[in-house]
Amino acid sequence: MQESEKIWMNGELVDWADAKIHIASHVIHYGSGVFEGARCYDTPKGSACFRLDAHLKRLYNSAKIYRMEYGLPLRGYQEAVLDTIRANGMKGCYIRPLIYRGYNSLGVNPLPCPIDAAIMVWEWGTYLGSEALEKGVDVRVSSWSRTAPNTFPSLAKSSANYANSGLIKMEALTEGYPEGIALDTFGYLSEGSGENLFLVRDNVLYTPPATASILPGITRDSVITIAKDLGFKVREEMLPREMIYIADEAFFAGTAVEITPIRSVDKIQVGHGRRGPITETIQRTFFDIINGEIADTHGWLTYVNSGRENEPAASATGRTTARAR
Ligand SMILES: Cc1ncc(COP(=O)(O)O)c(C=O)c1O
Repeated sequence: MQESEKIWMNGELVDWADAKIHIASHVIHYGSGVFEGARCYDTPKGSACFRLDAHLKRLYNSAKIYRMEYGLPLRGYQEAVLDTIRANGMKGCYIRPLIYRGYNSLGVNPLPCPIDAAIMVWEWGTYLGSEALEKGVDVRVSSWSRTAPNTFPSLAKSSANYANSGLIKMEALTEGYPEGIALDTFGYLSEGSGENLFLVRDNVLYTPPATASILPGITRDSVITIAKDLGFKVREEMLPREMIYIADEAFFAGTAVEITPIRSVDKIQVGHGRRGPITETIQRTFFDIINGEIADTHGWLTYVNSGRENEPAASATGRTTARAR
């Protein structure tokens, strides 16, 4: 991976090479961590994080579900993220905030272990390849299901949930697909290993609801908002597997994949087998907002250097402006 200079750990910026935790940390053995994945974009008005507040709210909610509230108010954590981006001189980057159970004892009981936090930022380009944003991807339905309700909470973005995601991803890659789509334990469409799912049929957008074992994505919420702004109907409802085969268009939405069209599922062509017109319109609006090219009417961008215009500019590294044209 592309290393950056500094990692924030419990309030201190440490060198990348020194950002270490003890092997007896609870999180390593039992997956007792929660995390986020957000992006900062290099816009004409300066570096801007996309929906950072929503990501950190979800982080704190994930921590709440696992009884691991961190001793820093949300505002303070947000400042720490911005400090970390500035300390690394990043213009555009991927942001990985974490809250986890550290080192004390190794019983299953997490409660005696300290609640620690870290923030990493690094350069991370398009997740499924740059062509995928335009050309789309061929995927398969996974033989692995998402976790059942009341097992692993899907509304929490917990490290433990990604054991399931890893199985879906490895199976897809082994079979020659870049990604898999998981069903929930009732057989309804759920989501990809690290992204939400949308279908388009007769000009209506469909996406599985929170009750289909999904992580309710910030990008998913942004897509719903953009689609409604553009005058499309959006329906969040349980979707049978076969609905994706007969959709006019389908796409993934997530911080890593951004908006990536799906052109076939299980070797059945979706629509015309390429990025559909509604996907393209929503994708273009999404990229125009995150690149600062159209008005940010929903207040989704947090500028990293807002109010610091007179300070010396940090060195310019990081991902350049994202585009899907
Ligand atoms: C399992 C899963 N679903 C959905 C998403 C999309 O969420 P977001 O748009 O907030 O990145 C992610 C990525 O975080 C994910 O890991």
